[in-house]
Amino acid sequence: MNVPIESGISIKDLNKKFTIDKKQVSILENINIDIKQGEFVSIIGSSGCGKSTLLRIIAGLDNDYEGTAEMDGQKILKPSLKRGVVFQEHRLFPWLTVSENISFGLKNKSRDEKKDIVKQHLELVGLNGFEKAYPGQLSGGMSQRVSIARALANDPEVLLMDEPFGALDALTRIQMQEECLKIWNKKNLTIIFVTHDIDEAIYLGDKIVIISQRPGKVKKIVPIDVGRPRDRNSHDFSEIRKLIYKEFFSNQKEVFNYTI
Ligand SMILES: Nc1ncnc2c1ncn2[C@@H]1O[C@H](COP(=O)(O)OP(=O)(O)OP(=O)(O)O)[C@@H](O)[C@H]1O
Ligand SMILES: [Mg+2]
Repeated sequence: MNVPIESGISIKDLNKKFTIDKKQVSILENINIDIKQGEFVSIIGSSGCGKSTLLRIIAGLDNDYEGTAEMDGQKILKPSLKRGVVFQEHRLFPWLTVSENISFGLKNKSRDEKKDIVKQHLELVGLNGFEKAYPGQLSGGMSQRVSIARALANDPEVLLMDEPFGALDALTRIQMQEECLKIWNKKNLTIIFVTHDIDEAIYLGDKIVIISQRPGKVKKIVPIDVGRPRDRNSHDFSEIRKLIYKEFFSNQKEVFNYTI
């Protein structure tokens, strides 16, 4: 009998240690997360709790851990074109044009195919006309758009985004969140989105995974049962915001002066 293959990402009993100053330090402990194909999952947690480490494991960039990380029932052992990554800071090659940056990772494609893919993705991220520009001639938001286009050019099934909008101003950030949702819909992607920003996590995600301080553990998984487009001022949104603030700051009321 054929065993059905689960589609999506599954992290089971994951433990990750790093050697710091000759000592083994536990970074992630007993992480269990299931992400369905097509789901948009936000991950939040304080700095240093292991969010990027977790994303690197899912990307296949780190396989030195205990437990399992699987995609569609297959162990993740190395990077794959099925999983695109947008890193915390854009990592564009400054000496290549926007087009060359986007087409850099495309393998086994003819010149014309590459040209088509670049054109299609420039359009998708709203950068028509900038194909010949160099990264040094772009704003922060535009550079992140190029990073997203590059990650999408290989047509991944899963997009891993590590605080992609962290360096952007508030207005550009909101605009990029909209673009991100549009792309998610259009491409039928699974997105795993790491952020420090609680409102961003609520606005985007189908669910939010809250990671505790080091060693990072899954503190809570909060489903966001609010239809899109979401209103940041709505009652439902505020209730989820309150719940998440409570998770983070319930012991520190007086410091943060936030009504919970
Ligand atoms: N290659 C490494 N060697 C040793 N320790 C590491 C390594 N990479 C990360 N760490 C440690 O693991 C912990 C988690 O790092 P990680 O980058 O995953 O945190 P993060 O949650 O992404 O933080 P931030 O929100 O600041 O980006 C940190 O304490 C960091 O010092
Ligand atoms: Mg990080």
